[in-house]
Amino acid sequence: MPAAAKIRFENVEKRFALRDGEHVALGGISFEVGAGEFFVIVGPSGCGKTTLLRIAAGLDQPTSGRVAIAHGEGERPENAMIFQGESIFPWMTVRENASYGLRMRGATRAHIDEVVGHYLDRTGLRRFADAYPYQLSGGMKQRVSIARAFACDPEVLLMDEPFSALDEQNRTLLQEELLRIWDETKKTVVFITHSVDEAVTLGDRIMIMSADGLPKAYVDVPFPRPRSVLDLRATPEYGRLFHDIWAQLRTEIHEVA
Ligand SMILES: Nc1ncnc2c1ncn2[C@@H]1O[C@H](COP(=O)(O)OP(=O)(O)O)[C@@H](O)[C@H]1O
Ligand SMILES: [Mg+2]
Repeated sequence: MPAAAKIRFENVEKRFALRDGEHVALGGISFEVGAGEFFVIVGPSGCGKTTLLRIAAGLDQPTSGRVAIAHGEGERPENAMIFQGESIFPWMTVRENASYGLRMRGATRAHIDEVVGHYLDRTGLRRFADAYPYQLSGGMKQRVSIARAFACDPEVLLMDEPFSALDEQNRTLLQEELLRIWDETKKTVVFITHSVDEAVTLGDRIMIMSADGLPKAYVDVPFPRPRSVLDLRATPEYGRLFHDIWAQLRTEIHEVA
C-alpha cells in the first residue's frame, strides 16, 4: 500500500438490535486504504459490505470504532457514493444530474460546463445530455452516476456493487470505462463487489471478507495498468489469482448459506 493512508477504518463494529437479541454485522474491522489506491472488498452476500460502506460514507454510525478520511488541498466533498440501484434523480436531465455535486458546491457555470462536459464525453453520454433517466438503459444510468461522482472530485469514491444489476456485456464495458477514467484521475476508491472476476479486474488490492463480518485475507493484484479487461482475463496469471480468491471465498459462502 502507498505510504499515505487516505481512509482508515479503526475497529469498526456494527451491531443491529433484533427483537430477540442482536446481530453483529461487522466485527471490529481495521484497515487502511492508501491515497490513489483502488481497493476492492469482496465477500459473500450478507457479510456486512454495504454496512461498512454506509459507515464510511457517513450514512450510518458504527456501534463503536470510527472511519477517518484524510483531506487534501482545496474544498472537496469527503466522498461520493455509487450504488447498485438507481442513485440519480429521475426529475433531472443527464447533464443536471452530472452537475449536481458541483452546483451544490457553488462552482461557476464555466467550471461546471467544462468538468461535466469532460465526464459526459468520457462516459459516452454527450448525446444524451438532455435526456431524462427514464429514457436511459440501466448501463447509461450507471454511467450518469459515474460522471457525477468523478465530476464532484471527492476525497474518496465509494462504490457498492455498481455494476451488479447489469448484463454481462454492459458490465464489461462499464468496467473498461471505469478503468480508463480512474487511470486519468487516480482517485482513492473503495469498491464493493461479490464478483471475484470484477475484484481481480479492477483492484490494486483486495480484501476478502468472512461471513461473520471480518477481514479474512488481503490480496495484492500485481497486474500493470492501464489494463484491458479482455486481454487481462486471457492471461494465466489472471486465472490463478481468480482461482486462489475463489477458493478462499467458497468456504465463507457455505457459512452464510
Ligand atoms: N438496518 C438493519 N437492521 C438489522 N439488520 C441489518 C440492517 N442492515 C443490515 N442488516 C444485516 O446485517 C448484515 C449485513 O448486511 P449488508 O451490509 O447489507 O450485507 P452485504 O452488503 O454484504 O450483502 C445482514 O445480515 C443484514 O441482514
Ligand atoms: Mg450489499
